[in-house]
Amino acid sequence: MTDPLVDQARSALPAAHVPYSAYRVGAALRTADGSVFVGCNIENANYSNSLHAEEVAVAEAVKTGHTDFERLAVSSGARDGVTPCGMCRQTLAEFADGDLEIVCDRGDQTVRYTLGELLPNTISEGTLDAARQQRGDQ
Ligand code: THU
Ligand code: ZN
Repeated sequence: MTDPLVDQARSALPAAHVPYSAYRVGAALRTADGSVFVGCNIENANYSNSLHAEEVAVAEAVKTGHTDFERLAVSSGARDGVTPCGMCRQTLAEFADGDLEIVCDRGDQTVRYTLGELLPNTISEGTLDAARQQRGDQ
């Protein structure tokens, strides 16, 4: 039986805009009230403007005030257990702490991580506050 959140990540794959890599990624983010926000990757002809599936899912959630992230599932068309890249891990860390569960689709199995495992020693608002205090800023 598939994890329902993984199924929702898979459901975003057909919408992926991937004319350059042909590598589809889908993400499904569940927030504390049980809402689920999905995203797919959206590539661009200049390459660097490409949006990652996780970024799109985070944007969908945050724009409607859903900032309490509970669980994230990620899937690629290759069912290769793809994990969020470094940039997406940091984007997730803006709203979630280290115990956010991240489930990655490997076809007939899933691989589970926590955000803390994938991104230890995150830079956060606290990091900046501590530096500010050291300088004696207001
Ligand atoms: N991609 C994602 O959507 N999420 C990640 O965190 C890893 C990479 C996308 C970006 C690009 O469209 C394709 O996968 C190949 O890197
Ligand atoms: Zn990414």
